[in-house]
Amino acid sequence: MIFDTHAHYDCDAYDQDRDALLEEMHASGNVGLILNCADGIASCHRTLELCERYDFVYGAMGIHPERLEDFTEENLDTIAKLAAHNHKVKAIGEVGLDYVNGGDKTEQQRLFVRQIGIARELGLPLVIHDREAHLDTMTILRQERAWEVGGVMHCYSGSSEMLPQVLDLGMYIGVGGVLTFKNAVKVRQVVETVPQDRLLVETDAPYLTAVPHRGHRNRSDYISYVLEQIACIWNISPESAENITYDNGCRLLRI
Ligand code: NI
Repeated sequence: MIFDTHAHYDCDAYDQDRDALLEEMHASGNVGLILNCADGIASCHRTLELCERYDFVYGAMGIHPERLEDFTEENLDTIAKLAAHNHKVKAIGEVGLDYVNGGDKTEQQRLFVRQIGIARELGLPLVIHDREAHLDTMTILRQERAWEVGGVMHCYSGSSEMLPQVLDLGMYIGVGGVLTFKNAVKVRQVVETVPQDRLLVETDAPYLTAVPHRGHRNRSDYISYVLEQIACIWNISPESAENITYDNGCRLLRI
């Protein structure tokens, strides 16, 4: 079964058919587990509702760098409390740096540091968003001793040359629909290079949909197209790729 380690089913793209879709994907036996990643304080509460409703949905609590308006002491407190008191919360995320769409860089960095602090305090792994901010992301992860908790570099967009440093920090690598794009040379090299026990699969649903559904709303069972690519690169069966990445997700998130 598929473990989708990064999805946003709380977002309004699913308002019309969220329950039907989640139930269908799980009942068919295709999708075993989903980690729903919050992107802000309201999203944390919606994520917890999904966790309560579905035993196969787990949650990550955090404020995305594009939501700097949510960066208040009160909200950080709330995140720490929600994460500490709910056994379905398995990570702090998605957190990190976005130098394309995010706001003030210094504020983003401060928020990132604080949320790494929460993760360390609670002993939870991190779900990290790094867009065009590789150097600063790595510097902060090192300075803040992120290796004590580990985590995943979601939708990894770094090079295969940078990969050893990321792995040294105890991070897993998350890949999704981008791997099926024709021009995805870099991420293909990353899958060639990464140790099999450090790779996770994800959708980032509703975004980044795999070929042949590119351009449409994403869903967790489309990860089968990503697994086909991984299987091809590793020269194993898609079923083996599915099992390996499922086990990796369970190991990182302690499920
Ligand atoms: Ni995301």
